[in-house]
Amino acid sequence: MITINLIKRARIFILLLLTTSIFVFSSFANSASDTDWGPKYNSKGELILPTNYHGWIFLGAPLTPHALNNGKAGFPEYHNVYTQYEAYTAYRKTGVFPEGTILLKELQLTIEGTNDDGSRGEASGRGYFPAALNGIDISVKDSERYKDTNGWGFFNFGHHAPPYAKTAAALPKEACAACHIASAENMVFIKFYKPILNAK
Ligand code: HEC
Repeated sequence: MITINLIKRARIFILLLLTTSIFVFSSFANSASDTDWGPKYNSKGELILPTNYHGWIFLGAPLTPHALNNGKAGFPEYHNVYTQYEAYTAYRKTGVFPEGTILLKELQLTIEGTNDDGSRGEASGRGYFPAALNGIDISVKDSERYKDTNGWGFFNFGHHAPPYAKTAAALPKEACAACHIASAENMVFIKFYKPILNAK
């Protein structure tokens, strides 16, 4: 009897040991893949849309509503801009975005207005308020891969409600980079994100 009990206990012990080591091993595996935070590409060299970006650092939300653009805003939504935690911390240390930075701009419509200027009243006051998601544009810093467009690649994953395209090819210079080269500071409209990037 005693020996059977002992064998049973030993079995339970071994089982526990096994499950713990599997658990420990898989958490190591996770943390290893977490450090690989840069952009991912498919075999055709197209950028794969990141999946976890709502958990990234939010940098700001420029807004260009129709009502302030003669009803013809190209992007009437909020432009919610996110970056990876690693890019954010590196920028705060050095003042430069590291290689592998992704700036992801997700468009978000405003709730339908009740006033002529497209605004509406909510408990907090009269203004514009976030509604449905409506598209994604991305820029990626890779000085080698995108050397023809000042070290940043530009991608569009659709200007419509989700689901978005899962992958996108880099767009030609005229489509995106040219305007960022002409009007932004080092390819990024950094002034809009500095309040959060520089926040202490
Ligand atoms: C006519 C000029 C112009 C063109 C063309 C343009 N952008 Fe931009 N982009 C801006 C401005 C201005 C901002 C910042 C203010 C805003 O979002 O309204 C911006 C912001 C961005 C951001 C957020 C990071 C940053 O640099 O501020 C991304 C990402 C972006 N654009 C991607 C694209 C992509 C992809 C294309 C091409 C499909 C594109 N842009 C074409 C002017 C332009």
